[in-house]
Amino acid sequence: MVDVQREAAEQRYAAELARLSEGDADPRPRGWVLSPRAVRRFVLGDDALEVSQKFFGDDALVDRCIVSLLGQQGLMLVGEPGTAKSLLSELLAAGISGDSRLVVQGSAGVLEDHLRYGWNYALLLAEGPSERALIPSPVLSAMRNGKIARIEELTRCAPEVQDAMISLLSERTVAIPELGAGVEDRAALGFNVIGTANLRDLGVNEMSSALKRRFNFETVHPIADAAFEKTLIARQLQDRVADHPVNADMGDDVLDVLVQVFRDLRTGRTSEGATVAQPKSVMSTAEAVNVAHAATLNAAYLDGGTVNADHVARQLRGVVFKDDPEDARKLRTYADTIARSRGRSSRAWATFYKSVKDGLDG
Ligand SMILES: Nc1ncnc2c1ncn2[C@@H]1O[C@H](COP(=O)(O)OP(=O)(O)OP(=O)(O)O)[C@@H](O)[C@H]1O
Ligand SMILES: [Mg+2]
Repeated sequence: MVDVQREAAEQRYAAELARLSEGDADPRPRGWVLSPRAVRRFVLGDDALEVSQKFFGDDALVDRCIVSLLGQQGLMLVGEPGTAKSLLSELLAAGISGDSRLVVQGSAGVLEDHLRYGWNYALLLAEGPSERALIPSPVLSAMRNGKIARIEELTRCAPEVQDAMISLLSERTVAIPELGAGVEDRAALGFNVIGTANLRDLGVNEMSSALKRRFNFETVHPIADAAFEKTLIARQLQDRVADHPVNADMGDDVLDVLVQVFRDLRTGRTSEGATVAQPKSVMSTAEAVNVAHAATLNAAYLDGGTVNADHVARQLRGVVFKDDPEDARKLRTYADTIARSRGRSSRAWATFYKSVKDGLDG
């Protein structure tokens, strides 16, 4: 067996799912592998069962998503990039269906067939249309097996593909005329759809009002609570670095700088109440984890092992602010004002300030 980079949620958390299922005495909708209560525990954590918290910051949102999936309407998660829409969709599918892999990745190249079915052409030519030659799409597989299908970035699909989605969601049937008149697959109990859409993409292919009526929309916001965000970043950093044969420490003060910089620039407001210019670059939690990860690997493999605010600043400069001079100016102004003044009482902030300044001057 090789070690894979990223297992599906139901594999990664197989032990947690097994424990949740074992003790699950709550009512379970037909077609679901867990009760709604157990699904919530899977996503939000349960200390007694040693189930980890995976989605942070909005418990009520998770409840609404679960309720929405109990009904006949699909669930559409919308929000800024990197707010864990895909993560939440994967966790819900893993908890509800035990399978998060029935995914269609939305793009301009997606055709209607990708939502319905295709053919193994060698078999089709040899035998004519048959069940054996049919290749069901993830959506058709989900319908047949009563599972959750996931459509990522639905707004990147062409309008006619979105229309095909409408008929799937309202008819809950896929007709397969090639196999004979009247041959169709009706959705089994448990079938539903979770879509995700990035707010920065909206307008690429604006969602039709018909489609909007078939989904319950939920907006996923960036994590509001700084302490929560910090915990999350620290934990995910630990997970990611665990794959490497190195030790690296990111001290609390450095982590604070990282979290604070992202929050200040994301919201355009510092914790002291000062206004700062918001860059166009995505300052999401997901991006913060990436920066923390890269800074840590840099320190671990190429430096002394201790992550300092210079590593963080370098990653920010290089990765987040790389190709927009306007953004670089905003970072510089932020450093000159906010970071510099915080640097009077914090070494990490002083290092951060100096690193941004030297990097952008040089
Ligand atoms: N509230 C949150 N709870 C848990 N993880 C979060 C949260 N917000 C952001 N993250 C981070 O975001 C990562 C997942 O981002 P994901 O790809 O799901 O975002 P997305 O909203 O789908 O982004 P995009 O719009 O770019 O597709 C997580 O692995 C985690 O690091
Ligand atoms: Mg996504």
